[in-house]
Amino acid sequence: MQLIDTLNRPLRDLRISVTDRCNFRCVYCMPKEIFGPDHQFLRRDQILTFEEIERLARIFVAHGVRKIRLTGGEPLVRRDLHLLISMLSVIPDLDLTLTTNGALLAKQARALKGAGLKRVTVSLDSLDDEIFKAMNDVDFAVENVLEGMDAAARVGLGPIKVNMVVKRGLNESSILPMARFFREKGYILRFIEYMDVGHSNGWRMDDVVPAAEIIKMIHAEMPLEPLDQNYKGEVAERWCYKDGSGEIGVVASVTQAFCSTCNRARISAEGKLYTCLFAIKGHDFRDLMRGGATDDEISQEVAQVWGKRGDRYSELRSENTISLPKVEMSYIGG
Ligand code: GTP
Ligand code: 5AD
Ligand code: SF4
Ligand code: SF4
Repeated sequence: MQLIDTLNRPLRDLRISVTDRCNFRCVYCMPKEIFGPDHQFLRRDQILTFEEIERLARIFVAHGVRKIRLTGGEPLVRRDLHLLISMLSVIPDLDLTLTTNGALLAKQARALKGAGLKRVTVSLDSLDDEIFKAMNDVDFAVENVLEGMDAAARVGLGPIKVNMVVKRGLNESSILPMARFFREKGYILRFIEYMDVGHSNGWRMDDVVPAAEIIKMIHAEMPLEPLDQNYKGEVAERWCYKDGSGEIGVVASVTQAFCSTCNRARISAEGKLYTCLFAIKGHDFRDLMRGGATDDEISQEVAQVWGKRGDRYSELRSENTISLPKVEMSYIGG
């Protein structure tokens, strides 16, 4: 049964975080001062098992979900993730994908593809090692991420999408080199406006490079024209090079909010359902499942939560919303 929220938005897309841990410490997501050696991550018994994730996934698919994206933290640090993929990939009518930092992708690409993963999106913020290392803060080299992308492309996990978060004064100088490089490669590069997710990244409006500015900069060197969206509610706005040499995207959630078509639900690694990336509170499904609830009861709970949904944080964003309580990006998975 198709669910509709209070703003008439269907439930179509489910993002499942499989771990709150990550092998990077990106300064805009998990700064070391906060996510240091003493940080308490979720314990193993607190996170959903693969069987619990599969059970929820099937219930959401029965409610109209057509795409599941696995996220983290970093999803590939969850042990044996390919086993979860093989459990989800047999669910009919489902686009199954994953967003990764790419560090472990070269090693895992074949197993992921074999388990039935359809495609991957890989995050990379610069081609310049000095800038990239300053951003991932764990001395991880660009070359290794590129190897991960290429391995994924080779085994058929394409078309590869690349996510670049742009932060003013940090990696603006990487916009054009990234555009040139990935146009050549044929991967779809998407520029993401830096968002005020969580509280640990110290976000300020001045840090945001508006998508329009990015498009203008690229257009001046490599002329662009707009493309129609692939599907209603798509996050990225698509552009193609006029000479037919490829496609890019911008995710402009700060300067051009897209809440009016937002059809995404999110489940945290510990089994809480969030109806917005900027939500304050999640609805617990882990204890419901572990307490013996039936599929019907869980399904009704999902319907109830979605039916009450009225989130539209990005449309309401202002100086006053920045300090509202919110979950961290590494907990909710973007
Ligand atoms: P595809 O359309 O399948 O490529 O997926 P996607 O672009 O939705 O997924 P991805 O994980 O690559 O997300 C791209 C960027 O958009 C990330 O920075 C996400 O945090 C952000 N994003 C995704 N969904 C939402 C959303 O509902 N609201 C906001 N504000 N940002 C989102
Ligand atoms: N703003 C925008 N995007 C972010 N990501 C992580 N933190 C932020 C932020 N503050 C990106 C990651 C990944 C995707 C899931 O979200 O780089 O590509
Ligand atoms: Fe890890 Fe992704 Fe956050 Fe970077 S943005 S710290 S890779 S979860
Ligand atoms: Fe959806 Fe919330 Fe993002 Fe708006 S801010 S697009 S409601 S997740």
